[in-house]
Amino acid sequence: MVVAQSKVTVVKRRMAMAKIIAGIGTSHIPTVGAVIDNDLMHGEYWDPFIKGIAPAREWMAKTKPDVCLIVYNDHASAFSLKNISTFGIGVAESYEPADEGYGPRQVPICKGNPALSWHIAESLILDEFDMTITNEMPVDHGLTVPLSIMYNQPEEWPCQVIPLYVNVVQYPQPTGNRCYNLGKAIRKAVESFPEDITVAIFGTGGLSHQLQGERAGLINEAYDADWLEKLVNNPMAIKDISHTEYLRETGSEGIEAIMWLVMRGAMDEDVKEVYRFTHTPVSNTNYGLVIMENKENNQKEKK
Ligand code: DHB
Ligand code: FE
Repeated sequence: MVVAQSKVTVVKRRMAMAKIIAGIGTSHIPTVGAVIDNDLMHGEYWDPFIKGIAPAREWMAKTKPDVCLIVYNDHASAFSLKNISTFGIGVAESYEPADEGYGPRQVPICKGNPALSWHIAESLILDEFDMTITNEMPVDHGLTVPLSIMYNQPEEWPCQVIPLYVNVVQYPQPTGNRCYNLGKAIRKAVESFPEDITVAIFGTGGLSHQLQGERAGLINEAYDADWLEKLVNNPMAIKDISHTEYLRETGSEGIEAIMWLVMRGAMDEDVKEVYRFTHTPVSNTNYGLVIMENKENNQKEKK
């Protein structure tokens, strides 16, 4: 039997795909938000900080990611100890700033991207990361302060925001390795979303700080500097650091740094470091900021 073969023309077309173009690590110190909101960011204390974050703001204004996927922790603002999720993702149309005791910050509401959020949630769950899915959630300083650091005080945030939260406040937290692997799964999820959009992924919190108890005020600059260097150039060397080491070396809240490992896992192993800045103290914390780009994206022109 002869089967008639219809002529099929295959047009080779580049598939539209979302891309993770950059990873940003930054502390999320609430005082920074309060000082920006109340126009108090000037004078001797803040001058080095303002100078230090200026190149990051310039880079952000030039790079213009369409979406900021912000890995952060809720500090008992949207959630409480009644219910603790290890990992969760927001899938809402928008996220209001949380009231953390002094009224909500006067910053823009974050506009979400529900289609991308749901795509990431599905991909992560099929990859065996059992995310909590959150339809409604106010976002606290853990998320809004990094936006203020990178964008200052715009009328509207110039990007869509996807919040991805990690429990770092109640033991047992996830391991650094689990966070790193979650980052890899996030990259796979984002880069299978069929729309030409650019995504910057943030890891927030850290570096060393302890807010309570006998060691309140602890800062360990030498440890943080070594950790940050390895985060950029040899993440394998730090992904398995134990919780007790973070506690001992970086204080009780220093463990927030595992969220930077989620960001790092979503990047190439070999990255281009664009910027690094540390300054101590900012409030109780050794402030850290790092920006890295995936090398393959460096030539990509922005419309
Ligand atoms: C500070 C830092 C934090 O990460 C936080 O969540 C709260 C306070 C501080 O340095 O004051
Ligand atoms: Fe914090």
